[in-house]
Amino acid sequence: MRVTMIGAGYVGLVSGACFADFGHQVVCVDKDADKVAALNRGEIPIFEPGLDDLVESNMRQGRLEFATETARVKDADAVFIAVGTPSRRGDGHADLSYVYEAVREIAPLLSSKAVVVTKSTVPVGTGDEIERILRELRRDADIQVVSNPEFLREGAAIQDFKHPDRIVVGTDDIGARNVIADIYRPLYLNTPPLIYVTRRTAELIKYAANAFLATKITFINEIADLCEQVGADVQEVSRGIGLDNRIGGKFLHAGPGFGGSCFPKDTSALLKTAQDYGVALRIVETVSAVNEQRKRAMARKVVTALDGSVRGKTVAVLGLTFKPNTDDTRDSPAIPLITALQDLGATVRGYDPAGMEQAKPFLPTVTYCNSAYSAAEGADAVVIATEWEQFRALDLQRLKGVMAQPVIVDLRNIYRPDEMKRANFRYLAVGRTGVD
Ligand SMILES: NC(=O)c1ccc[n+]([C@@H]2O[C@H](COP(=O)([O-])OP(=O)(O)OC[C@H]3O[C@@H](n4cnc5c(N)ncnc54)[C@H](O)[C@@H]3O)[C@@H](O)[C@H]2O)c1
Repeated sequence: MRVTMIGAGYVGLVSGACFADFGHQVVCVDKDADKVAALNRGEIPIFEPGLDDLVESNMRQGRLEFATETARVKDADAVFIAVGTPSRRGDGHADLSYVYEAVREIAPLLSSKAVVVTKSTVPVGTGDEIERILRELRRDADIQVVSNPEFLREGAAIQDFKHPDRIVVGTDDIGARNVIADIYRPLYLNTPPLIYVTRRTAELIKYAANAFLATKITFINEIADLCEQVGADVQEVSRGIGLDNRIGGKFLHAGPGFGGSCFPKDTSALLKTAQDYGVALRIVETVSAVNEQRKRAMARKVVTALDGSVRGKTVAVLGLTFKPNTDDTRDSPAIPLITALQDLGATVRGYDPAGMEQAKPFLPTVTYCNSAYSAAEGADAVVIATEWEQFRALDLQRLKGVMAQPVIVDLRNIYRPDEMKRANFRYLAVGRTGVD
């Protein structure tokens, strides 16, 4: 099959490389000329484990190309739209301007039997509007519009794309279903369920999935707050409830609140859709509000660890991305945490294995360091904000040796209190009794 991806970001690039790896002929079109030039030089603009090898081998075998010219859609059997749908400034609706702009650009160039597939996360009814635009601009053609939302997670994107729990295909058109089924056929060996639904249902499945996962995280975060007050351990509560198959253990890790390029904007966009249709989604509303407050409130933990004030003190923050194995800092909980610490008078040193360049525009006054130990130099406290693998086995004696005082605030619960006690650290975690 000939596939064109519009947008070569986290989703477009991973999906395009994986489709090429399935054996399809793929062109990824992006309007960012620098990104396309870098990709054509074999440089991967994002940090995603395994992506460099996948891209390199599929380019070498002639199945994967990168271009800036939208004209490359003309022979495609399917054109996937994978452009960004950020929160619209001011009202929290999904900003669909990139999607509609892409549709208007490709409309005159599409073959008359093309299938346009929305992979971007878009509110219910967006497919209808795309169809309306295409009908208006291409009266001659019979172009089908399908919703095929993407569920991959950054940091495990290739694994997720190649071993999905399900593939959701939203269309009533049998021909379009067959095109999508052909594209995903190599995955049938792993028998992931292909779920055929209407386009509106497919669009809503994506938002409902993200809102549900955000709810799980927020639920356990509030239980963590209660654990701290009653002397229980949230890690054990998570395990105790997560082993129940009806609940499941995933997304039950207490921490500084959810962030990233999807959950915050998608919960907000879902709420706006619900408002537009006069429906109250009170649970999602609460999840969104509780999470927003939590991120900045994490600074209070550092204040407590430093006897009531961070003014004039130095805090080292380890991990700036919203989760490990990505360079994505969009809506990372580390950002409001750090700005809150700075507002309270702290000097912040930061280190992240992949996301420092991306963090700089949001956090211009942080001192960026080249390792966890150099960030900890002279620090009154080390805060673990992201659970990167390399932070899980820090040399505690070396760390203590460079710090002004031995204090760790572990917002991801990656250490055990007894281990910290042995190493003579003051230790505060989330939802567990700390060590003084
Ligand atoms: N990042 C994730 O983990 C993830 C997971 C599932 C779904 N999604 C959804 O997928 C969509 C894309 O997300 P992303 O993180 O890949 O975004 P991104 O910002 O990383 O990439 C979007 C790309 O689209 C390009 N672009 C914009 N307009 C274009 C146009 N008219 N023609 C060609 N290229 C254009 C941009 O230059 C950019 O490279 C969003 O709707 C997002 O919600 C993201």
